[in-house]
Amino acid sequence: MMCVGLDFGTTNSAIGVASDDGTVRLASFPYGAAFTETFRSILYFAADRRDARGKLVAVAGPGAIEAYLEADGSGRLVQSLKSYLADRGFLATNIFHKTHTAVELLSLLLKDLRAKAEESLGPLGSRIVVGRPVRFAHADTADDEAFAIERLGTALANAGFTEVTFEYEPVAAAYYYESTLDRDETVLVADFGGGTSDFSIVEVGPSRRKSARRILANDGVALAGDSLDAKVLHHVVAPVLGMGTSYRTMFGKELPVPVWIYAKLRRWHHLSFLKTPKNMELFDEIASGASDPRPIRGLQHVLDNDLGYHLYRAVEHAKVALSKSTTTTFLFEDSPLKVEAEVSRAAFESWIADEVGAMSECVDRVLATAKLDASAIDRVFLTGGSSFVPAVRRLFDERFGVEKIRTGGEMVSVATGLALRARDT
Ligand SMILES: Nc1ncnc2c1ncn2[C@@H]1O[C@H](COP(=O)(O)OP(=O)(O)OP(=O)(O)O)[C@@H](O)[C@H]1O
Ligand SMILES: [Mg+2]
Repeated sequence: MMCVGLDFGTTNSAIGVASDDGTVRLASFPYGAAFTETFRSILYFAADRRDARGKLVAVAGPGAIEAYLEADGSGRLVQSLKSYLADRGFLATNIFHKTHTAVELLSLLLKDLRAKAEESLGPLGSRIVVGRPVRFAHADTADDEAFAIERLGTALANAGFTEVTFEYEPVAAAYYYESTLDRDETVLVADFGGGTSDFSIVEVGPSRRKSARRILANDGVALAGDSLDAKVLHHVVAPVLGMGTSYRTMFGKELPVPVWIYAKLRRWHHLSFLKTPKNMELFDEIASGASDPRPIRGLQHVLDNDLGYHLYRAVEHAKVALSKSTTTTFLFEDSPLKVEAEVSRAAFESWIADEVGAMSECVDRVLATAKLDASAIDRVFLTGGSSFVPAVRRLFDERFGVEKIRTGGEMVSVATGLALRARDT
């Protein structure tokens, strides 16, 4: 029997297969001249890439970015799909004049992920354990959560996974962490990803494997890497593109440049929605009525040349650099537009204070649900890409003491744990 685990992440996905002895093999995907175990949860459509029947063909994963960059930005990228699973407003989107439902997009992504994973793992069968966040982004009610799970389940079935078990992502990470233990522990697992931050308190260890493992509490919040990126964009890029300035309308009235423009800009994949003829007219009006037209022309340059992905890369690059150094140079250049700024970690931390505060409150909640004091937690296991952010780590250092903190498997812990979980069921 195949024991397959799938971590469908907002930014990165991974697939693992557990063998009888408890080792997990992760699918590896070609990327440039090398291989990677992370599959970007991204879909790319090229206008001219169609099958024999004229249907658009999509590419997912590492190949999607390569194809997009090769095409010089002329195609459409769909990213962070998972963040919209619970959003009833997001039913379909138009790509090259054809409507694609959310489930269709997700099915394309999962089918491609499956096919590419099978190249290194062999046939995966129909049975799978799939991760889910404790709280989906955009989910306000239990019904919204169920809606997200239903859409994910339909797309998984379309990709040939018809026997699906869902497991909380931080619980899966706990399985991964447990495999390293030689004694029992009460562990707080914190998984900081691209779309959500998820927390579980679990009793794990050698004597608890299988039956005696107890989950004491789960909680989560839809704030993670994407939200941190949005803050960098807001503070570093948006002001250079005219946020906070004003212009004189055709009728001589002084008006602020609308802030909704920059709210859209904060999610780079919303940029294509900004590019309507009506908006372009508005930008022209702003440019002719502004004392300095260059900022809004800069924004138009980004939209005209589909630079959203490149802009987002520069933002993420700066954020990642600030995990290592206390200062970095943000640089985005596409002549004539140039955004260059020194960004300090201290400034970044002041911008993300609300997000880190909300994560901290979620930790309070999960402890309260488990009816445990911080002192009753033996270990804290931090994982997920955004756990590299120093301000996020500090939250736990301060509350639990550095000696209790363990980190690791940032990009693979959830997929590995899900495969182990598949072996248990
Ligand atoms: N060194 C780093 N410093 C800061 N952020 C980082 C670093 N490395 C990766 N990230 C961020 O981590 C996020 C991706 O992490 P991960 O792959 O764990 O998320 P995911 O599993 O796709 O998302 P989710 O679990 O929310 O669905 C991205 O926002 C990325 O920018
Ligand atoms: Mg994740």
